[in-house]
Amino acid sequence: MRTYIMLKPDALKRRLAGEIISRIEKKGYEITDMKMFTLTEDILKEHYAHIANLPFFPDIVKFMTSGPVIGMIVEGPDVVQGMRNLMGATKCLEATAGTIRGDFAFTNGENLIHGSDSPENAEIEIARFFGK
Ligand code: TYD
Ligand code: MG
Repeated sequence: MRTYIMLKPDALKRRLAGEIISRIEKKGYEITDMKMFTLTEDILKEHYAHIANLPFFPDIVKFMTSGPVIGMIVEGPDVVQGMRNLMGATKCLEATAGTIRGDFAFTNGENLIHGSDSPENAEIEIARFFGK
């Protein structure tokens, strides 16, 4: 199974990319593709269609386009749920210690990492960002 992982601009600005990638590797998952790029508002409207009409979406766009991101394809058994477990909950106060967000995120918007929420969405997101 494979999933789409994206290190958000705060992860790069805070020099946490290596730490997060290291956790993915130590878990045993395989990173089979990786690239650094900058998101656009148009692609965010697609990628975040489920929150695009919520009041905080302009702030999300501002944050997510504020610097480069690192997109990755990560592979392993049950990796979609497994990566969600490594990431921790969306909201920083609900993310438990030991998770990436629990250990390093202190606001709800800037929470360091995106991971697909289902195998179906993983394939859609990999197609969106890697064309494969
Ligand atoms: P969502 O897909 O619900 O969360 P996740 O990243 O855990 O899959 O939301 C996408 C991003 O939008 C989320 O990572 C951070 C931001 N967001 C907020 O800032 N506040 C919120 O209440 C929600 C639901 C999301
Ligand atoms: Mg999501």
